[in-house]
Amino acid sequence: MPVGTLANIKTVTPAQLKMTGAEMVLANTYHLHLQPGEDIVAEAGGLHRFMAWDGPILTDSGGFQVFSLSQIRTITETGVTFQSPRDGRMIQLTPETSIQIQNRLGADVIMAFDECLPYPSAYEVTAAATHRTHRWLQRCVEANQRPDQALFGIVQGGIYLDLRQQAAAALSEFNLPGYAIGGVSVGEPPDLIAKIVQVTTPLLPADKPRYLMGVGTYREMAQAIAAGIDLFDCVIPTRLARHGSALVAGERWNLKNARFRRDHAALDDACPCYTCRYFSRAYLCHLIHAQELLAFTLLSIHNITELVRFTQRIRESILANTFVADFAAWLRSEPT
Ligand code: GUN
Ligand code: ZN
Repeated sequence: MPVGTLANIKTVTPAQLKMTGAEMVLANTYHLHLQPGEDIVAEAGGLHRFMAWDGPILTDSGGFQVFSLSQIRTITETGVTFQSPRDGRMIQLTPETSIQIQNRLGADVIMAFDECLPYPSAYEVTAAATHRTHRWLQRCVEANQRPDQALFGIVQGGIYLDLRQQAAAALSEFNLPGYAIGGVSVGEPPDLIAKIVQVTTPLLPADKPRYLMGVGTYREMAQAIAAGIDLFDCVIPTRLARHGSALVAGERWNLKNARFRRDHAALDDACPCYTCRYFSRAYLCHLIHAQELLAFTLLSIHNITELVRFTQRIRESILANTFVADFAAWLRSEPT
């Protein structure tokens, strides 16, 4: 899922996004509550209408964003009170208000309100947050007024595998339409992420979508898919684009680099995307140097297409029973 925090994939129109092959997008409760507010989105007829995306949409609960974006915050059993970075007013998000906001935004998949800790966090602190996340999940389930929206639970537990196991078991009891693994990619070493995913994923129901939150490098995705993960969201393709970078041949190229000034080849001749079909590396290099916004659009289209194609290739390999052999280079741990 490309990330559309504020009800848009930055610099990309829905028509352009369709062409990348992306099917589902993510939006954020935290950001949309602050701006423009769920009332305006509901008034517009819900997120699909408001942002003109007729494909599936998932909203994150705000749990993660409160913890990562608001310096001033108080956590109690009730929920989290934090200061709005926009206008300084104090706002409370609880399991109930998060679900209520997500009910009004109207995404297809909504996420439970959870407590996501930074890395490193002590065992006792992590255990308390994980258990609270389960009590909050119960409240989210009770607060959900829209059975047409699929509510996913989130496994926390930090780097502690026994807490991850407990969390996966506790969540599975809820018989939810889908499950997510949260609290990864928060600064811990890559090998640890792989370990957490390998231990946790098989403990979640295999007949339900399993979603690894905030992950999206080639290696992390390949390893997670090998463990059973079905769904990802990541800002990497669009964020890299806004830094002038393209994902090509498994590498990151900064198109601002002088070596591209007279390189008139297609960005990636193996890529069927709109950008690679019509535009050269030299042209993209020129746009970036001239600070033209079109560069961000063209690079986003390519980068999203590239990651979608990566998952499509994996899907084909799985069906052909050749996944482990075909993707061996990505399935090994980080080259040192
Ligand atoms: N996005 C990335 N990680 C997380 C997480 O742990 N919880 C939530 N709600 N969103 C996330
Ligand atoms: Zn391309």
